[in-house]
Amino acid sequence: MVVSLRQINFLQRTFRNCWEETLLRVWMCWTSMLVIVFLLLVTLCAQGGNGEEREGAQRQGHVSVMIVGGTGDLAKKYLWQGFFRLYINQVGQGNTFSFYAGGLSPSDETTPIFFEILKAVSCSKDVSPERCAILKDQFLRLSQYRQLKSLEDYQDLAKHIEKQLQEEGMTEAGRLFYLSVPAFAYADIADKINSSCRPTSGAWLRVVLEKPFGHDFRSAQVLASQLRGSLQDEEMYRIDHYLGKQVVAKILPFRIENKKFLDPIWNKHHIERVEIVIKEALNVKGRISFYDQYGVIRDMLQNHLTEIMTLLTMRPPKNLSSSEEVLQNKLHILSSVLPLGKNQAVIGQYQAYNSEVQQELNKTKDHVSLTPTFAAVLAHIDEAQYEGVPVLLISGKMLDERVGYARILFKNDIFCLENHNSIHCKPKQIVFYFGHGRLQYPAILVSKNLFKPLSLNNEWKEVTEHTDISVLGSPISDYYVQTPAEQREAYVELISHIYAGRKNSFISTENLLASWDLWTPLLSSLASSFPRIYPGGVDNGNLLDIHLKGTAITYISEEVIISPDQMGGTSSNSFQVIHGKFRSADMVSAWAEELMERLAADIQEAAEAAVHDGGVFHLALSGGSSPLALFHRLALHHFSFPWRNTHVWMVDERCVPQTELESNFHTLHDHLLQHVRIPYYNIHPMPVQLNQRLCVEEDRGAQLYEKEISKLVNGSSFHFVLLGVGYDGHTASLFPGSKIDALEENLVALTESPVKPHQRMSLTFSAINRAHKVALLVMGKGKHEMVTQLSRVKDNLEKWPVTWVKPANGRLVWYIDYDALLG
Ligand SMILES: *[C@@H]1O[C@H](CO)[C@@H](O)[C@H](O)[C@H]1NC(C)=O
Ligand SMILES: *[C@@H]1O[C@H](CO)[C@@H](O)[C@H](O)[C@H]1NC(C)=O
Ligand SMILES: *[C@@H]1O[C@H](CO)[C@@H](O)[C@H](O)[C@H]1NC(C)=O
Ligand SMILES: *[C@@H]1O[C@H](CO)[C@@H](O)[C@H](O)[C@H]1NC(C)=O
Repeated sequence: MVVSLRQINFLQRTFRNCWEETLLRVWMCWTSMLVIVFLLLVTLCAQGGNGEEREGAQRQGHVSVMIVGGTGDLAKKYLWQGFFRLYINQVGQGNTFSFYAGGLSPSDETTPIFFEILKAVSCSKDVSPERCAILKDQFLRLSQYRQLKSLEDYQDLAKHIEKQLQEEGMTEAGRLFYLSVPAFAYADIADKINSSCRPTSGAWLRVVLEKPFGHDFRSAQVLASQLRGSLQDEEMYRIDHYLGKQVVAKILPFRIENKKFLDPIWNKHHIERVEIVIKEALNVKGRISFYDQYGVIRDMLQNHLTEIMTLLTMRPPKNLSSSEEVLQNKLHILSSVLPLGKNQAVIGQYQAYNSEVQQELNKTKDHVSLTPTFAAVLAHIDEAQYEGVPVLLISGKMLDERVGYARILFKNDIFCLENHNSIHCKPKQIVFYFGHGRLQYPAILVSKNLFKPLSLNNEWKEVTEHTDISVLGSPISDYYVQTPAEQREAYVELISHIYAGRKNSFISTENLLASWDLWTPLLSSLASSFPRIYPGGVDNGNLLDIHLKGTAITYISEEVIISPDQMGGTSSNSFQVIHGKFRSADMVSAWAEELMERLAADIQEAAEAAVHDGGVFHLALSGGSSPLALFHRLALHHFSFPWRNTHVWMVDERCVPQTELESNFHTLHDHLLQHVRIPYYNIHPMPVQLNQRLCVEEDRGAQLYEKEISKLVNGSSFHFVLLGVGYDGHTASLFPGSKIDALEENLVALTESPVKPHQRMSLTFSAINRAHKVALLVMGKGKHEMVTQLSRVKDNLEKWPVTWVKPANGRLVWYIDYDALLG
């Protein structure tokens, strides 16, 4: 015969109830007590000999909960409260419980402290105060503090649990360890659990971990592999408490419930941008020894904001309860985020931070911390659905207010001629409002000009009575507003998921590593960047406002480091473009930016003249890094350039597939062609890949290109040829020492480079020297030595191929920036 703890608890509860009742009803109470005892005996007898436990993942029995670090801050603030709520929900549902707080200090010292913590737990509103008092009392009786330091302590814990199971004649359902300790202790504790505290067979083991899960990709990988030695993947529950926030947990269900409204608009054609913002008003005083090693990107963006981004952009699962599908779809979108570089982030640090660091870490006054306390990152997702849609992730400390939200802002193509207040002309947005800020409750807001969201269950209710506030630019009355019927703490929610074994609100090892894979390169590229200093609070003004420029992000306001009057005289006129002679040809020289401006203007002038005369402009461009700034200038500033009448040819190409980064055509496409309106058939990449092979003589690629030139370009004379010069004096892909035939009649040839990839295709001098205009572009301090030598040497095809650039009937101009010219 089995008497379970549940039945004991039940008797105990009724007994307590009777003591607390008024005298008037005491006899009734005792009578009902007797009835209950009688009924209980009947059920127990009926059960007799039939005590077979039910098998399965969730078999019923006894559950032992251990919070390691059970008297720490997190446990005190959230965890015991969460487990108490779990207990309230589960009492009488079949399982029985014991709770243990584990810690490093001895039990006689800490037990009183522990019970002080437990006394603070509370019930939700729907539990009467009487019932709450009883449940709390039971919870306290089921809880104890234990020292958990050495392996023996863990072995003793295991013995204690087994003894209790035996004495009570209970089956074990599972053991839950919540590690609320610094991450460096995880591997050791996991090892102790594995070696001495695994439950009896058939019962589950769940071990809960809190961030940080590593510091970068490498350390996360090391920690993951250490843990894998002691725990199976399905035994680990990595918490991101944002996933327990009701509004965050509702994102996927909302997307699924409102599929018919969202499907047509949840894409690049309709979404203007996505913003995920978590602002905090507090500083990090007291946590600096931790924070200074992490900073805001590791503390917030790598985990919370990334998780929210995946929920918003992942493919909604067919089956929301399938953890496997949810985690797999998340992983897919995580791996589709385009790499983040320095240009996709701005960082800041609140002014007082550095002195707080000096104080807390006991550093001298000249110690400078570069740890960012604010970051804004611009991500893009490499999926057709979201192509070009900016995803902004922003978080920081010491900002003007505490608030968290994700907003999907939609494009609005309606123009209201008269009534700009018409609903059609208002912003169209969906806001997932996590809490705090002006709106005092978590909510999902949908602009009324989008659609009225469905809510399929009674856990959420619509808010129709509004105070006069505005949320993200719109008065609240412009939204349909839904809020949880009852607000619940994230930890209460997540603890119930752990208990139910629902893994979809936790971070799998694979997803964790994918996230670090995304963030680690950005973190390294920012490692020595100076954050912008901001005063904190409302004084920040527009200092942290952000400007999206294509795929890059910058602060709107320039930081003034030295005011103009400190610079001593006006200097803006002293950096002019100068004209001169170099190797007896014309030379234009200036600082890099002005030089690019001039070169771009000269190309446009040549283009307009050619189009005016013959209706077409033939431009041949070389590879290398020098022309990149030119390409950007042409794409961003020359909107009247006659691209429709321009044919773009290549001066040279590496023998690699066009899909590779080394391909000159690839670079040309990425930095210029895709940004301008040039007809496809005006673009002429060199045919380096024919018959599935690269630059093979018999494939006659060079001849093919030459034929194309002869066919389209009058007299095979390009209007403009842009060339660079290498450190070794090569130009196009015509290298020193290679046997270049000066009298070569062919316009295009296969050549050999001394550096990899060796094989090239190139215009020959005979093509270059037929051109109407040739520009030789030389930039950067690194080229100064070469420029100096070039200014002295005689024409020498073998050693200095570039000296052979001598247009027969055209004009040669050198464009040399000051760095290259003056060193
Ligand atoms: C746990 O420990 C046992 C030895 O006690 C070992 O065989 C096993 O591989 C460890 N890890 C896991 C994940 O069970
Ligand atoms: C959804 O997934 C859950 C958990 O894996 C499973 O129990 C359930 O049967 C699935 N439902 C459907 C309709 O496939
Ligand atoms: C702070 O640093 C100074 C010198 O570096 C040392 O003498 C002192 O003991 C340190 N104090 C603390 C609290 O670490
Ligand atoms: C081709 O070039 C020749 C010589 O430069 C010129 O006389 C002729 O007009 C050009 N033809 C066209 C169609 O532009």
